[in-house]
Amino acid sequence: MKNVTELKHPIIEHKLSILRDKKTSTKEFRELIKEISMFLCYEAIKDAKLDEVEIETPITKMKTHKVNEDQYAFLPILRAGLGMVDGVIEVLPTAKIGHIGMYRDEETFKPVNYFFKVPKDIKKREAIILDPMLATGGSAIDAIELLKEKGVEKIKFLCIISAPEGLKSVTKKYPDVKIFTACIDNHLNENKYIVPGLGDAGDRIFGTK
Ligand code: PRP
Ligand code: URA
Repeated sequence: MKNVTELKHPIIEHKLSILRDKKTSTKEFRELIKEISMFLCYEAIKDAKLDEVEIETPITKMKTHKVNEDQYAFLPILRAGLGMVDGVIEVLPTAKIGHIGMYRDEETFKPVNYFFKVPKDIKKREAIILDPMLATGGSAIDAIELLKEKGVEKIKFLCIISAPEGLKSVTKKYPDVKIFTACIDNHLNENKYIVPGLGDAGDRIFGTK
């Protein structure tokens, strides 16, 4: 699928195997979400703009480059997206963070928005949305729409696990948005859960069930 990057790496597969396991503890689940998010972010900012800087090593002066961190904002979709924040800010510690509050109605499976607070200068930034699960794609589409309404032009979406059905919907509606996912799973079940998936990401991160 165009504009969808799946992380294919033995370490990612290893970490996902532990993450998916229903016996994995909340503590370990959180740590793995953080670690995989770091790798997703690392991959997603491969195209980062660099500023030329001059530094001095103990040996000599040199011209080199640094990432202009002011170009980014992270936007976790509440709740589960919060679990990814610690990982991505290890990669870009000074990026700004906004919050998109959204939950999926258990009967209609449609997202319900309840909170939206983003940095004032979001329009000038590249917006990186965080949500561990992209299932039907409804939440991703609504989050992208909200940011586009604010005038954001460059949007990326980072998710740990995605379903082919949701990826198709999001890429069809927003072909300009690049999606980075650790794994594209098989399908959605009758309750619109990802199969094989990992269950309810929010509940597993926060230990609510
Ligand atoms: C989950 C997940 C996504 C959404 C994905 O959130 O974190 O936001 O569902 O489903 P979709 O692609 O079909 O829209 P949930 O509604 O469980 O809320 P939570 O994060 O508060 O647990
Ligand atoms: N939300 C989740 O947390 N898991 C799924 O499989 C689908 C939506």
